[in-house]
Amino acid sequence: MDYDQTNMPETYDRGRKPAEGMLEMWMERVATALAGHEISAIVDLGCGTGRFTQALARTFDASVIGIDPSEKMLAQAKAKPIAERVSFANGAGERMPCADASADLIFASMAFHHFSSPQRAAKECWRVLRKDGAVCIRNSTRERSSPYEAYFPNYRVTLDTLPAAREITDAFALNGFALRHHEAIPHLMAKDVTDLADKAAFRADTTLLRLSDDDFARGMANMRAAAQAPSGAAMIDIDLFVFAREG
Ligand SMILES: C[S@@+](CC[C@H](N)C(=O)[O-])C[C@H]1O[C@@H](n2cnc3c(N)ncnc32)[C@H](O)[C@@H]1O
Repeated sequence: MDYDQTNMPETYDRGRKPAEGMLEMWMERVATALAGHEISAIVDLGCGTGRFTQALARTFDASVIGIDPSEKMLAQAKAKPIAERVSFANGAGERMPCADASADLIFASMAFHHFSSPQRAAKECWRVLRKDGAVCIRNSTRERSSPYEAYFPNYRVTLDTLPAAREITDAFALNGFALRHHEAIPHLMAKDVTDLADKAAFRADTTLLRLSDDDFARGMANMRAAAQAPSGAAMIDIDLFVFAREG
């Protein structure tokens, strides 16, 4: 999906604002999954508005280049206060503006399902990583369910457009990587249905964009009606993979 042709660059940070403690939780889990790797240079691939870019620099005490094909998403990222060791550039998984063997870690959050060719992206990761480098993929997969399924008609159809975990592991296994870690991590999407509806209203999610306008409107009405009663937290499982470069 070409984010520059949508209004996602303007709505993304509000619609996808991490719940309290979530950014820190993810950085801790990513650091744990990468224990033993020496990391001083990171690529945040498909960085979007830079939701994770600065946090990666802080967590690993490393330089980070955020790469994205959307100029408008990059403009949002660049408009934030940026640490000296953080930079941004136009590029994509299939063509990174990076020298051979120049990074220790390539981190890609919610970008894998946008690669036009996952195999070419995996090959490109191999080229850009140093020996013993790693790829960390944080992505929703088709195997998981979402709180949105209870409200939006036909939401399951859009979830089925996401990659299966096996497609992710195959893309890297076939291109010089070994799977080192895979787990599904519970992620707090929203503290209750009102919070979930407030975020969904921005439609800053390609799964919501793929719904018809009618299904989207019906889902929003269903959520607003459900929000009249007390409700609990909305959780979703997100997959985290670590692949080590071989050879
Ligand atoms: C859902 S956003 C994720 C942004 C950020 N990583 C995050 O988790 O907040 C997906 C991003 O992938 C980018 N994207 C689209 N095609 C891509 C490609 N072929 N390679 C890398 N990124 C791509 C989009 O422009 C968008 O900014």
